[in-house]
Amino acid sequence: MPMPTGSALMEKLVALCKRRGFVFQSSEIYGGLNGFWDYGPLGVELKNNLRDAWWDAMVRHPPIGPDGQELEIVGLDCSIISHPRVWEASGHVGGFADPMQTCRQCKKLVRADHVAELLAEAAWVTALLETCEAGPLPGTWIPRRDALRRWAEGKGRRLAPGLALVRYPAEVAGSLNEEPLDVQTLLRALASESPMVADAELPCPFCGGDLTEARQFNLMFETYVGAVRDEEAKAYLRPETAQGMFYNFKNVLDSTRVKVPFGICQVGRSFRNEVTPRNFIFRSREFEQMELEFFVHPEEATQWYEFWRAERFRWWESMGLAGRNLRLREHEPDELAHYARDAGGCCDVEYAFPFSGEKGFTELEGIAYRSNFDLIQHQQASGVKLDYFDQERNERYVPHVIEPAAGLTRGLLAVLCEAYTVDETRPSPELMRFAPRLAPIKAGIFPLVNKEGMPEIAERIYRDVRRAVGPAQLDVKQSIGKRYARMDEAGTPYCITVDGQTLADQTVTVRDRDTGAQERIAADRVVAYLLERVR
Ligand code: GAP
Repeated sequence: MPMPTGSALMEKLVALCKRRGFVFQSSEIYGGLNGFWDYGPLGVELKNNLRDAWWDAMVRHPPIGPDGQELEIVGLDCSIISHPRVWEASGHVGGFADPMQTCRQCKKLVRADHVAELLAEAAWVTALLETCEAGPLPGTWIPRRDALRRWAEGKGRRLAPGLALVRYPAEVAGSLNEEPLDVQTLLRALASESPMVADAELPCPFCGGDLTEARQFNLMFETYVGAVRDEEAKAYLRPETAQGMFYNFKNVLDSTRVKVPFGICQVGRSFRNEVTPRNFIFRSREFEQMELEFFVHPEEATQWYEFWRAERFRWWESMGLAGRNLRLREHEPDELAHYARDAGGCCDVEYAFPFSGEKGFTELEGIAYRSNFDLIQHQQASGVKLDYFDQERNERYVPHVIEPAAGLTRGLLAVLCEAYTVDETRPSPELMRFAPRLAPIKAGIFPLVNKEGMPEIAERIYRDVRRAVGPAQLDVKQSIGKRYARMDEAGTPYCITVDGQTLADQTVTVRDRDTGAQERIAADRVVAYLLERVR
């Protein structure tokens, strides 16, 4: 089996994630719920390891700052539902919306800015383009009236029943000029009952039908607090963890000894009623974020922005993501929020996900210079002063903020994509090459045969490893090859085998997941050996 790419890779990965208990569709026995996922026994360990690595790199052992001192960063864990005025002040009630279109034929909703991308992946578009002749320029197609009409009256009925060409084959095919068109112009022409209108909408990516004009759709999930369900009781599930750090700014200042520059960070669940959740756990409706708000003097903001850009890129590399699959992309001026446009900037750490398409990379983490927008907003809305007295400068000011905001569950997907490997030389070719510190199981321990005292020795080693190193698995069933294959798929970096020689000289073999190389070490060195490699 060769190493798959693109959607074939995603299919294999999703299948492995389910088979081995990394990620399940939420409430699958009821048909699942779009945009919601459950993390299985291996997935929850992997996710917790990524989360703990982030917390460790932020709070427990923060980076060394430009002055050679460790940064000051403290943690928080805020409630998911907060006072609804938080979201008015932050701008989410008024402005946290995506443009949404509805299909008049199949009634599905689609995010207006995702339509072109979804069409590029749609099976019906691929099938339709096969009926056209390639044009003189790359990416252009000559629509042949007869071929398109035949397609519309045959395959098209099943693949794209909503497309105007399928509903009115004679009229739409008849109105076409057999001239080269790019894909989007061609699709607009085939989606329109009347001869080509310059600003015709693209068709529905799911059925080819007509899409309504885009309407703004607020992404926050609403709920009610208390027994009465009226406007007064309305509240929101948080769409980001960041605001908790802003509305607790004064609490943190008053309860700790932190001094600017310092950071507050949090890991937790966020909720967005995404119009088109897609690409497995990449864009879901319930997900986890790892966010840092780093408070600085306004004059030092640019320097700290540069610092965190480099630091966050380096951290993702240290999680095993290869440098070539990562890039830092500065936002274009028209992508920037107004507060970032006026002062600093915003960039994304992007990863080459298999579905990144032509762009090649998609967002993993955003690093934004937010000026003092959020603190000022909350100060004005609450009437509570959120400024800071800087003793060294003898100056009072509202600190500016650099915000590295990462997705934990999206990060997990990057780690899964990076780890997925096909090695055709192995009897069972799929393996997950997780960085050992992230691996959900640190070691597999096998007695070669289930007799002659080997199970007892293996069990002793297993208990020691679990106690001192972390999750381990004792496996006594089937051939050693099959046991290796099971551990390879789970991404276990080391397998320890107790065999006949162990009985004679108290040594065991250690097999390395990535190279398959084996070495013999003393059985009483197993814990130390693993500790050196998996922490
Ligand atoms: N406080 C800023 C903020 O929330 P964001 O770019 O909207 O910024 C930060 O989100 C990160 O959260 C993203 O880079 C992404 O990794 C993750 N994220 C955002 N929406 C997501 C979704 N629907 N599903 C999974 N992860 C998401």
